[in-house]
Amino acid sequence: MKLSARLEKIVGLVDKGVRLADIGTDHAYIPIELLKSGKIDFAILSDINKGPLENARKEIRRQGLADKTDLRLGSGLEVLENGEVDQVIIAGMGGILIADLIEKKLGLCKSLDKMILQPMQAQEDLRSYLNKRGFSIIDEYLVGEDFRIYEIMEVRYGGGTQDIDDIYYEIPTKLIEKKDPLLPDLLDKKIRENKSILEKLERSSQGQETNKAIVDRKNIVETKLMKLEEIKTNI
Ligand SMILES: C[S@@+](CC[C@H](N)C(=O)[O-])C[C@H]1O[C@@H](n2cnc3c(N)ncnc32)[C@H](O)[C@@H]1O
Repeated sequence: MKLSARLEKIVGLVDKGVRLADIGTDHAYIPIELLKSGKIDFAILSDINKGPLENARKEIRRQGLADKTDLRLGSGLEVLENGEVDQVIIAGMGGILIADLIEKKLGLCKSLDKMILQPMQAQEDLRSYLNKRGFSIIDEYLVGEDFRIYEIMEVRYGGGTQDIDDIYYEIPTKLIEKKDPLLPDLLDKKIRENKSILEKLERSSQGQETNKAIVDRKNIVETKLMKLEEIKTNI
């Protein structure tokens, strides 16, 4: 089985010999790769939906990995008991949902030695939530695949809440420091998105120059665009 670049990166971030949970496992490609290569020898696979979990079960049986896995139906980390696993992967869901799943099992998440998170959207909301709750983002990675840029985070509890300018929830300093080769593409994407929001706001504000909500929103987007352009100039 040839893994996609995104899945391969996630697989590479799991440490050798850990007890792993893959939350929202769907096709189960991540734990299958880790178990088959011998990097880990036990994984809990969970999904909230029966269909994906049954797909995972079929694939696990086909690969002869049933005795190394435990498949559980349920939402987020609620399928886990404290101390059962060392590391958790939550990949392919929205950032707000991931934050919500962590919040529901905060104590358990604080005790993990690592979470590997790959939000599909609202990455900035997830980073802001993690900081508010005292989690540190140990490292950040970008993976380009099929004209998309995926954002992957390695997270651990500790380090306290930092005072961070909101722009660094969108463009993390770790990626700037590392001069990630995909960072210019990520910045261009964010600049395009914000320009498009600004154009829409300008169209909808015509004749409503005194509408405070629109004026405030425009100011926020203009400031964000300025900061994005500034980062782009300095990388
Ligand atoms: C897009 S797939 C991602 C599959 C795989 N993790 C990946 O990254 O390729 C999202 C999966 O998350 C599951 N899911 C959605 N909400 C969930 C929740 N609250 N708890 C557990 N699984 C959930 C869905 O059923 C689906 O199988």
